Amino acid sequence: MIGDIVGRPGRRIVEDLLPRFLEQKRVDFCVVNVENSSAGSGVTPKIAERVLQLGADVLTTGDHVYRKREIHGFLRSSPRIVRPANYPSASHGNGSTVVEAKNGVRVGVLNLQGRVFMPPIDCPFLCAEAEVERLARDADVVVVDFHAEATSEKIAMGWHLDGKVSGVVGTHTHIQTADETILPKGTAYITDLGMTGPYNSVIGRATDKVLFKFLTNMPTRYDVGEGMEKLCGVLITVDSSTAKAQAIERVMLSGLPGGD
Ligand SMILES: [Fe+2]
Ligand SMILES: [Fe+2]
Repeated sequence: MIGDIVGRPGRRIVEDLLPRFLEQKRVDFCVVNVENSSAGSGVTPKIAERVLQLGADVLTTGDHVYRKREIHGFLRSSPRIVRPANYPSASHGNGSTVVEAKNGVRVGVLNLQGRVFMPPIDCPFLCAEAEVERLARDADVVVVDFHAEATSEKIAMGWHLDGKVSGVVGTHTHIQTADETILPKGTAYITDLGMTGPYNSVIGRATDKVLFKFLTNMPTRYDVGEGMEKLCGVLITVDSSTAKAQAIERVMLSGLPGGD
């Protein structure tokens, strides 16, 4: 599962590193969050198709999902992209999907959005219960991208779904956390995957623009930052006969000379 691709620098490192990584690690199924992939906000069908071509099986999103109008039709028609399930039912797109992995396992992917320090929407916890129950009928394994601001809300979701899904990963805050673990009932968990984009920035945005805003409280256009690109996420190993996670490993790949 790969964290939010941010703009062109994020797309570039996905182009450079994702296919080789998936092959080297023999990854059966790949989920990529693309909510910031187009100019730092939203995603277009062209970008979505390209990330799928590069090896993603399902794309997840978040609060920026509708930013580019062109994606609305794609959200309605493609089974390989999801938006948070706890949005109003009339919102374009689906909150979950089931797609077959390369090894034949049917993987359910559920996208949810948090409510703490975020716009008010339906309860992600109740939504998760209903969606997981529904997905269990069609999927062998279910993983969740919980797009949320507060660490507490994300950790709570991990506990809420422990034993019910194979993985709960957080996105949206763009900084990878070091708390990856297997919860007691077999769910792999991390509070945030980290962004896939330029770390020479403030969570993906050009440093000078963000500092201007902090120093003056005046509005400014947040450009996408440049430099120190990294591809971030986790590699989860699941026993598909029990749907229990066996391992979770943090991934942070750097494409630049001198990087880690
Ligand atoms: Fe994001
Ligand atoms: Fe977000």
